[in-house]
Amino acid sequence: MHQPAITATGVFVPPDTISNDELVVAFNAYADRFNAEHAAEIAAGTLAEMPHSSSEFIHKASGIESRYVMDRTGVLDPARMYPHLRQRADDEPGIMAEMALDACEKALAKAGRTGAEVDLVICAASNMERAYPAVAIEIQQLLGAGGFAFDMNVACSSATFGIQAAADMIRAGSVRRALVVNPEITSGHLEWRDRDCHFIFGDVATATLIERVDDAQSGFVIRSSRCGTEFSNHIRNNNGFLRRTRPDGMADRRDMQFMQEGRKVFKEVLPLVCAHIQHHLDDTGVAANRLKRLWLHQANKTMNDFIGRKVLGRDPEPGEQPNILQEFANTSSAGSIIAFDRFSEDFAPGEMGLICSFGAGYSVGSVIVEKY
Ligand code: COA
Repeated sequence: MHQPAITATGVFVPPDTISNDELVVAFNAYADRFNAEHAAEIAAGTLAEMPHSSSEFIHKASGIESRYVMDRTGVLDPARMYPHLRQRADDEPGIMAEMALDACEKALAKAGRTGAEVDLVICAASNMERAYPAVAIEIQQLLGAGGFAFDMNVACSSATFGIQAAADMIRAGSVRRALVVNPEITSGHLEWRDRDCHFIFGDVATATLIERVDDAQSGFVIRSSRCGTEFSNHIRNNNGFLRRTRPDGMADRRDMQFMQEGRKVFKEVLPLVCAHIQHHLDDTGVAANRLKRLWLHQANKTMNDFIGRKVLGRDPEPGEQPNILQEFANTSSAGSIIAFDRFSEDFAPGEMGLICSFGAGYSVGSVIVEKY
């Protein structure tokens, strides 16, 4: 058995940002148009007026201040409310592969490796831009990597599930060096016309390079990982390849974008995540006070504060549980890896931390790492 280690990470940051204030101005203009267009039904009481959104609510409820997106013009156009993305020819790189390539190249450069030295690429994300061929195989080709590649979707938990899959293959010897890459264009699945969720997501891509400990001078040994799932409809998106077969499948239906019962998610996912982490620590004999840092999924500040308190058994000290969601919003599978990328430089050999992601499914993944 070989010992796997995370030896580098890379983050691609999209070109455009949207602040809460900008988002709210666009949403409120959309709501005013909607209310004007439906004035008669609203007056007759057959349709509810669409209320305005508010920056204060967004910041208080989530901790989010801004987000990066691949295109802000479409999102901020009250007559459109979703991004403009150019149709690419089949013989040019797809947009997910292009974002992923940037993140992978950054990770490889940090580790002093080339794409040719990689023999597994897992593209693990909440959405794939097409059914096939796999986006991962396109990334493999762009990197000049060998071996094999495949796509994987476990929604917001995709990164940790991908890390577990890659680490297990390195342990077993079936691959030597893997890239787990998470290109997330959440702006494509978000319903920007729904004030309950229009502020939640942002775009980004992260990459995690995993090698044998013996192949790299320093990094984070993957001590252990745990993945868990439990079915729930409280985060759901019904878009899929059978869409056109359904009677009204091609209509502009709300359920073809991200939907959630936010309150229920909050209440149900928190105990699930806390119990999962506790079980992982108990099972591997790692005391919570051995963890220098928690790199948590970045969905909601209050949620992360709660998990930090529960896992550590006290209020986390500043820096023990860093958030990046104020800048990036919820970037689905990429959030915990952005936090790891930004806040892991100060680790001394022997110090340990825990990466944890959670979300739709429900799904939870945790990875205990130790600096060497
Ligand atoms: N602006 C102003 N008011 C808003 C609003 C907005 N953008 N969105 C909702 N509201 C209103 C609601 O209509 C509701 O009004 P009411 O009390 O009169 O009914 C009130 O604010 C509270 O709404 P609620 O949805 O209960 O807010 P919340 O405190 O639960 O926060 C989330 C919403 C989404 C931030 C929170 O539920 C959450 O974090 N959920 C789970 C985590 C997550 O985001 N998961 C994503 C997938 S991993």
